[in-house]
Amino acid sequence: MIISSPGDYREAARRRLPPFLFHYIDGGSYAEQTLRRNVADFQDVALRQRVLKKADDISLATRLFDEALDLPVVLAPVGLTGMYARRGEVQAARAAASRGVPFTLSTVSVCPIEEVAPAIDRPMWFQLYVLRDRGFMKSALERARAAGVKTLVFTVDMPVPGARYRDAHSGMSGPGASMRRLWQAATHPAWAWDVGVRGRPHDLGNISRHLGAPTGLADYIGWLANNFDPSISWKDLQWIRDFWDGPMIIKGVLDPHDARDALALGADGIVVSNHGGRQLDGVLSTARALPPIAEAVKGRMTILADSGVRNGLDVVRAIALGADAVMLGRPFVYALAAQGERGVTNLLDLIAAEMRVAMTLTGAASIAAIGPDLLAR
Ligand code: FNR
Repeated sequence: MIISSPGDYREAARRRLPPFLFHYIDGGSYAEQTLRRNVADFQDVALRQRVLKKADDISLATRLFDEALDLPVVLAPVGLTGMYARRGEVQAARAAASRGVPFTLSTVSVCPIEEVAPAIDRPMWFQLYVLRDRGFMKSALERARAAGVKTLVFTVDMPVPGARYRDAHSGMSGPGASMRRLWQAATHPAWAWDVGVRGRPHDLGNISRHLGAPTGLADYIGWLANNFDPSISWKDLQWIRDFWDGPMIIKGVLDPHDARDALALGADGIVVSNHGGRQLDGVLSTARALPPIAEAVKGRMTILADSGVRNGLDVVRAIALGADAVMLGRPFVYALAAQGERGVTNLLDLIAAEMRVAMTLTGAASIAAIGPDLLAR
């Protein structure tokens, strides 16, 4: 299949992956309204075209938390990435490093911290969930620190998992799921050989090391369901702030009040995010949630945004709406599933090329020059 745009990778991933994995990635919660709006609302943001602005020397470089980035993009934490491509976290991290952007390892990755960090020549970021097992949280932070992680992404929008109805239809969960998954693997032989056989072990690397026993997909679902902690409040985050001396980013903020609370806690940044429309369906899209949050905290903390960014134009739009940089979720996962590391590097190149055109035609020669005045009202 011909890949000419970032959007082509979704179909390429659909062809390659067993349906239970494709729909796990692709789906959102409940009626998937927020998932759809995330994408549509970015598309609806109109940019002001400006001509003859002498934008011949475009720079996409930026800095986040004293780290130099060649592109204002960070790969978002995505669970089970090692199921979408062989040792997928390592491949994605290598692609990100080769294009000068950070990769964020999820708590629930297949490859453990100790496998991914040494595979790249820049510090990776690490994402942690709020979990009942505080011993696990502490030891995960210690392991991350020992592996050279400086930037911690603390995800707070999953005190309970949102219902993803697609998963029951696709065989990810529900009755007879394991037989259905086996059948789907058998009928997707390229994936089965590359990832199913050669990509082993398929456990949750960070968690099985902590438990001292191998974990599988069933444990993933069970462990997560039992370990999310709805009793958590801002007060409980203080120990993590005290424990972690590097940059700490709170991921999953959609409201200006919560952004201010994150600032008061001493967080260095937030990710304006609705978890890619996978948690509370019906909440605001990122494109709509971002401007009032930027108004509340811009300049006092770093603002990242994700959920619905699909291409280079969306990156420019998100920055114009108030973000300092974006996180990419599904787009990099589709590219990884379709073509591994090569797919992710190509995706980042496509996004950079699209940004250059958008910046030239809006007269913004640098990331710092992208602001609300690029928006057509
Ligand atoms: C996620 N996301 C996520 N977030 C997180 O903090 N920890 C995690 O383990 C995961 N796992 C995960 C799995 C899959 C398959 C998806 C699609 C997403 C959310 C992710 O970091 C990010 O917020 C969204 O993916 C952004 O939305 P887009 O770019 O996918 O629209």
